[in-house]
Amino acid sequence: MRPRAGAAAQGPLPCAVMANGHEQEPGRLVFPDGFTWGVATAAHQIEGGNVNNDWWAWEHNPDSGTVASSGDACDSFHRWREDVELVAELGLTAYRFSLEWSRIEPAEGEFSLAALDHYRRICAACQGAGIVPVVTFHHFTSPSWLAARGGWEAPDAPECFARFVTRAAAHLGDLIGWACTINEPNVVGVMGYFQGQYPPGVKEDFGRYAAVNEAMVRAHRLAVDALRSGPGQYPVGLTLSMAEIAAAEGGEALRDAAEEMMENIFLRATGGDDFVGVQCYTRMHFGPDGLAENDPAVPLTQMGDERWPQAVEHCVRRSAGVSGRPVVVTENGIATEDDTERISFLTEALQSAHRCLTEGIDLRGYFVWSLLDNFEWHLGYGPKFGICAVAPGTFERRPKPSAHWFGQVARANAIRTGRS
Ligand code: BGC
Repeated sequence: MRPRAGAAAQGPLPCAVMANGHEQEPGRLVFPDGFTWGVATAAHQIEGGNVNNDWWAWEHNPDSGTVASSGDACDSFHRWREDVELVAELGLTAYRFSLEWSRIEPAEGEFSLAALDHYRRICAACQGAGIVPVVTFHHFTSPSWLAARGGWEAPDAPECFARFVTRAAAHLGDLIGWACTINEPNVVGVMGYFQGQYPPGVKEDFGRYAAVNEAMVRAHRLAVDALRSGPGQYPVGLTLSMAEIAAAEGGEALRDAAEEMMENIFLRATGGDDFVGVQCYTRMHFGPDGLAENDPAVPLTQMGDERWPQAVEHCVRRSAGVSGRPVVVTENGIATEDDTERISFLTEALQSAHRCLTEGIDLRGYFVWSLLDNFEWHLGYGPKFGICAVAPGTFERRPKPSAHWFGQVARANAIRTGRS
């Protein structure tokens, strides 16, 4: 492992200052000094054996429409050290991972010191390797005990979450680099209560969907307060799923309504936060009847989404405009078996991010989803988002060319544009 002293200390979110104003070198797009380069994962998608949460139950429910059990996932619960070493060896400066609430609080009010120590070791290993540990406190999964009494619909769910955050931050706070309270609170509502593809699998119930959105906003605010009153001083924010949403003629009002429900209510809830995390993958379309078909001229990813890397530019600009907060792209990537295509996609995405910087938008970092090929929720292990493969049977991590490419980008703090 290559320790780089000083990179991961606590303190404010590094302000990325564009060196030399907007002057750029020919053939390269240079990012600002202090720009953060990272990769992201989530506990349930990589750890394996998370048998005590709502997702495990959902994966094993024959009526859920999920295609696989998360099973052993990437066995990162045991192989986390390899993961951290990989991030350091690639030359990245940050690792975003999540805490599994159901391991830390397996029964209501009962906290596992062993689980807290486990995550403390991960944070310490990151700090030791000069990598910023970016800790997410909720990434889609909730403990079974909370699910049994209504999940995010339980009247005190935000308070339960804040109690967990308080306890975890008390144990880890001195080692946390940055904290993300909730991963994509907007997806929890839409997928769980409108699309019905995530637990609890409710379809098209607008009232319940709106109530869960409200609970998520309240949970975020309580969690920010909890994190700020614990030990350590680190930037705090939430991460939001965003898309470029295009409107065909007559679809403008519905597009605006979708942006309001899916994005704006959360962006407005970030007042006083240190950053907003933008997670974007694609473009969507709205017509007079609502969500419309993809543009047939645009190729699709393994997720069935439009291949639209320039969505990053749109989403970063929008999130900065609505929230007024510094922005970090906390997830971006593509599901593909073709790793050359991944490099092209990420290059175009970074070019689009760079256009925001030249406009003066306060963009502080960029994280690829994901370090590893992993458990893609209801779609199982089919979609390949990783810059590293995981060998079946041995769990061996095998960096793909995109991993080395991204490491070089991070070390150079620049991408080649192909022009000279
Ligand atoms: C989520 C990840 C997911 C990724 C790709 C994001 O919405 O945070 O958990 O794997 O998108 O679909």
